Amino acid sequence: MSAPLHATAVAHSNIALVKYWGKLARAGNYPAVPSLSLTLDAFSTRTEVCFDAQLKSDEFALDGTLVTGRPLERVTRLLSSVRMQAKLEIHARVISVNNFPTASGLASSASGFAALAVAASHAAGLSPSAAEQSALARSCSASAARSLFGGLAMLNVGSDAASPLLGAQEWPLALIVAVTDASPKSIGSTEAMNHCSKTSPCYRAWLDAAPALFASACAAVLRQDLESLGACMEESTWLMHSTMITANPAVLYLAPATLSVIHELRRRRCPEIPAFFTTDAGAHVKVLTLAKHAETVKNWLSAVTGVTRVVVCHPGPPAYLVDPQVRAS
Ligand code: PMV
Repeated sequence: MSAPLHATAVAHSNIALVKYWGKLARAGNYPAVPSLSLTLDAFSTRTEVCFDAQLKSDEFALDGTLVTGRPLERVTRLLSSVRMQAKLEIHARVISVNNFPTASGLASSASGFAALAVAASHAAGLSPSAAEQSALARSCSASAARSLFGGLAMLNVGSDAASPLLGAQEWPLALIVAVTDASPKSIGSTEAMNHCSKTSPCYRAWLDAAPALFASACAAVLRQDLESLGACMEESTWLMHSTMITANPAVLYLAPATLSVIHELRRRRCPEIPAFFTTDAGAHVKVLTLAKHAETVKNWLSAVTGVTRVVVCHPGPPAYLVDPQVRAS
């Protein structure tokens, strides 16, 4: 069968509850620590890939603007690996649209590379499994490997692909995002994590602590124990940020409003309304709670000075091809 040369896919972003930060010292973009994430229904990327014999090089438009330099190189890297597998020798036009701010700590690279992996491999006529698409996405952005799957997903050290842990419908969770600053981050996550691994005296402690935190968090998910999961999530967040603030020079994604949200959450939460925070390579705060408490927590976060918008997310679906006849798995 000849390749369709054209496909569109949607993938949802994911937020790590137990963080990936740092890479193995081997080729292929493998994380140095295991991670656990929640795929979000509210934030997604829609990507169209069209292989076209008329093109002299790959083209990539993101949110209506043609992209060059390193972001284009990463897209080309993924396309080249698809071309090699499919024995295709033509360039592609990639058109991607995010329904949320790009590169601001809302995991746009996760949803972006997951959608690209699904669209590019189907356009090239490959019929990869979800695991194969996850491995393809991981080779460009490790967090993207997890966005192939809905609900809670995990990525182990040395694994090619992420795998699902608990489906989106299994546990009525909500993740409330307090947007504090929608501008692009000052330093990209790959550059930042490499810098931390080279210069932070806390990096070794992070590598040592991460596997046990991951194991406890996965066990907590399987028994739907929000308090234990939340404790692992906050510990993982602080350990990751400890490698950042002790790097030389320090990497500081935490803004004044980030800390204000965390203080307010710690003041307000109680055994009746359990809620736990995390932050990533950006200033926003994401708070995990049960779906039934989403509105209450949203109101807490909305009242904090410096919070510009609050978005309530629920566990989101796996990545999919837009043609409803052909699902991505
Ligand atoms: O996969 P990248 O390069 O976007 O790195 C993601 C790093 C964090 O978002 C901070 C943590 C994670 O596990 O998603």
